[in-house]
Amino acid sequence: MERADALVLFGITGNLAYKMLLPALYRLTADGVLDQPVVGVAKTDLDLAGLRSRAREACEAKYDKVNDAAFEKFAGNLRLVAGDYTDGATFDAIRREVGDAKFLTHYLAVPPSLFATVAGGLAEVGLNRNARMVVEKPFGKDLESARALNAELLEFFDEDHLRRVDHFLGKEPIEDLLMFRFENMLLEPIWNRHYVDNVQITMAEDFDVADRGSFYDANGTIRDVVQNHLLQILALLAMDPPPSTDARAFIDEKWRVLRAVETVAPGDVVRGQYDGYLATEGVREGSTTETYAALRLRINNWRWADVPFYIRSGKALGTTDLEVVAQLRTPPATYFDGAPEPNLIRFRIQPDAGVTFDLLAKVPGRDSTRQVPLSVDFTKVLGPMEAAYQRILTDAVTGDPRRFVRFDLAEESWRIIQPVLDLPTQPLPYAKGTWGPDEAATLVPGGWHEISTTFD
Ligand code: BG6
Repeated sequence: MERADALVLFGITGNLAYKMLLPALYRLTADGVLDQPVVGVAKTDLDLAGLRSRAREACEAKYDKVNDAAFEKFAGNLRLVAGDYTDGATFDAIRREVGDAKFLTHYLAVPPSLFATVAGGLAEVGLNRNARMVVEKPFGKDLESARALNAELLEFFDEDHLRRVDHFLGKEPIEDLLMFRFENMLLEPIWNRHYVDNVQITMAEDFDVADRGSFYDANGTIRDVVQNHLLQILALLAMDPPPSTDARAFIDEKWRVLRAVETVAPGDVVRGQYDGYLATEGVREGSTTETYAALRLRINNWRWADVPFYIRSGKALGTTDLEVVAQLRTPPATYFDGAPEPNLIRFRIQPDAGVTFDLLAKVPGRDSTRQVPLSVDFTKVLGPMEAAYQRILTDAVTGDPRRFVRFDLAEESWRIIQPVLDLPTQPLPYAKGTWGPDEAATLVPGGWHEISTTFD
């Protein structure tokens, strides 16, 4: 893997750069992880001094304290090329700015419609050689468009030099799903159909689509977070242990499990739309785009046959939480009153990452049991975690492909959800601040588990 000695950041004056990329790059400079030149590219009236003060503002908006010396070092590494992506002169200027860098990472924080234009512009001046290209999401709108986009990019960069971002793969608690499973012998032997009854993945957001009306309306929940983020989580939860530690073996196993996921049918999905969505700026009149989706997925392999994996996600719900609950099977009999309750293993991803095991314990003085939580708060025990974009940017520079989406995984994910994209039926209405449409419960025979409350 080649380490880049310069980072070219397309879209440096955009929203993602302001909110995530510039603060993450500053932090990485402060921590001594990265120190290469960052050549920002954008169609902008800003000059370099203007970009540096925007970067400062972005860092101050993100962190309580910005270290002056570290910021100066980061700002000193910043360069700016202002120009249009369709203009060859822009790419000539980039070439001059990167000077004698031996290997480049091009990071495209620009709309996907520009990916091929930028790749072609780079190729014109030879900057696709000794370089990798990292592209933000979304990668395609469906299986066919993803394939078409990929074919366009492959003209300029081969798969080994392409990286597709899914920032959820940079989140440490998501990576920990895998560590926790494979490093703890307590868990791995039971992680299969003999012990697990069902798995529920919930990503709830209490905010609505706000000013993203036109983007969101063209996409909907299934494209926005299920095709990418939540299917990646499912893959990490369900994959087999890779036969070796190299990146390729790891990615191959993820692919293998996605390959085994059955394509979902409309009957496996409940879609919702929150009341008031249609009045949002940018949303089409009478739009049938979903702002909530619940899905039932089946994995056709020996480990998971007959174990449903459920996914639900929505905007304008009552809480913002991301949690996975694995429900274990119940014992054949109980020596106490009532039916045995299942053990639950909860992986809390955000906020407050941690793990909770819901176990049964005897109630003192009575012949009965009660569910009791056994919890670990990762931040309290292990310390603070790195932001997802710090890890994504580090890998973008160093070249580690593990936290990116190889194309065959993107393809499988589109294949899985393809039949339920853009359904013409009206999604079920739900009130803001609720758990979405009640009908979502019909997918899950025993009902959805409540999300565990955050740690105190
Ligand atoms: C993005 C989606 O990819 O992920 C958003 O477009 C969603 O709709 C966001 O809110 C969630 O990411 P995070 O990191 O804020 O949980």
